[in-house]
Amino acid sequence: MRVDYSPDSLGTAAFYRLLTAVVVPRPIAWVSTLTADGTTANLAPHSFFSVASTDPPVVQFTSVGRKDTLRNVEATREFVVNLAPEPLFEQINLTATDFPSGEGEFDAVGIAREPSLKVKAPRVAASPVALECRLHSTLGIGNSTLVLGEVIHAVVDEEALVDGHPDIHRLRPLARLGRNEWGLLGEIRDLPRVPYRDWPRS
Ligand SMILES: Cc1cc2nc3c(=O)[nH]c(=O)nc-3n(C[C@H](O)[C@H](O)[C@H](O)COP(=O)(O)O)c2cc1C
Repeated sequence: MRVDYSPDSLGTAAFYRLLTAVVVPRPIAWVSTLTADGTTANLAPHSFFSVASTDPPVVQFTSVGRKDTLRNVEATREFVVNLAPEPLFEQINLTATDFPSGEGEFDAVGIAREPSLKVKAPRVAASPVALECRLHSTLGIGNSTLVLGEVIHAVVDEEALVDGHPDIHRLRPLARLGRNEWGLLGEIRDLPRVPYRDWPRS
């Protein structure tokens, strides 16, 4: 037996809760931006996040509704995706508080920042990874806006590298699940892909 759901009968809010409970786990882009006048540094988690293209390198996140992050990205055409690491769990959640526009989460929550190399928006100093992005494009979809950003610079804490490669156990990324659930890193398994030339033939 399977249970059927349709967006029409369930309604928008309930279907949203269903989608976020089944599209899991989602990586969290901790997006930092600056207001157009450069006075307020904004920071907010976005779990509708992924890689959109590899050449050019483009990442994407979705703003559900119009929020400070989206307004700042539209005004400044840049942003930084900071990795959301487990040690900063509580602070990350606090940056999802609906502070008024003039109140930046870096200051309100007390999160240390550092300058970025290629964009004006600051990075989160304690995050092991920052992807500095220039706005590629936006796409309005219903109540949401897909934001695509070309990664023009990436920085990784050397403490998070093993043999020159970012190591998952050192990055300790958080994931978003359904409801108010968060995922921590589980068991990691390594399994190389099987090339077709090695596919067993009878
Ligand atoms: C883990 C987590 C993930 C979130 N993901 C998203 C998301 O993908 N898109 C979105 O619009 N809001 C998301 N939110 C809610 C925003 O972070 C929240 O609305 C925040 O206040 C927006 O801040 P801003 O107005 O400063 O941009 C998420 C919240 C949490 C806690």
